[in-house]
Amino acid sequence: MDVFEAIDSRIACRWFLDKPVDPKIVRALIERAARVASGGNLQPWQVYALTGAPLAALKAQVAAHIAGHDPRHDEAEYPIYPKSMWEPYKSRREEHGVQLYGALNVARDDHEGRLAQYKRNFEFFNAPVALFIAIDRKLGPGQWADLGGYIHALAFLARGHGLDTCPQESWARMHRIVRTFVNMPPEQMLFCAVAIGYGDHSHAANAFRSPRAPLADFCRFIGFD
Ligand SMILES: Cc1cc2nc3c(=O)[nH]c(=O)nc-3n(C[C@H](O)[C@H](O)[C@H](O)COP(=O)(O)O)c2cc1C
Repeated sequence: MDVFEAIDSRIACRWFLDKPVDPKIVRALIERAARVASGGNLQPWQVYALTGAPLAALKAQVAAHIAGHDPRHDEAEYPIYPKSMWEPYKSRREEHGVQLYGALNVARDDHEGRLAQYKRNFEFFNAPVALFIAIDRKLGPGQWADLGGYIHALAFLARGHGLDTCPQESWARMHRIVRTFVNMPPEQMLFCAVAIGYGDHSHAANAFRSPRAPLADFCRFIGFD
């Protein structure tokens, strides 16, 4: 797979096959993704990788925590989104919801159905491997941006192995449980999780392609013509 295909075929995968991933591939991915650039070569990513029995135990703990309550009300340690949205982000986010829940046949007013889908985040969408990405809490926006680079290097490298990924900021809401479970030191803050596995491409959750704004909406070319 070349780099173009890796980028074009990456999706936020929201259901994975019951198929294990070779631990050697997981290690190689985590290591190789660190070839990305980072400001001042600070390499601010901290990664916790889980699979097997520990992953099952963590999922069980979180399942017990979110049973009977809405995890969207649990606060992350950082504001995942601004309190209210404005254009064009508001419409984009709404459109994303329409696409995702539409693919899953969950109606707009089906609050239980929407909540059930949100809670699947905490099953890692059945992925056999889960990463937690953390950062030293004293670092700033420049270094947080570096985390994005790291996560996407992982995602594209994963495609090279035929694997799929889903970055999951939803897991930041479970920071207390995750911190204790992985023994994360207090100076680190949980940014997000990344689910890794072989995507089930016949699953409705993976059956749509998210749109992108046209080039003219986000790039001003200066001096090209
Ligand atoms: C940092 C980050 C966090 C995300 N968190 C979640 C999440 O918690 N749950 C989820 O289902 N999707 C999550 N997504 C996936 C986005 O919704 C998805 O990338 C976006 O809708 C574009 O779709 P695509 O990745 O399939 O192209 C996240 C993406 C990023 C980059």
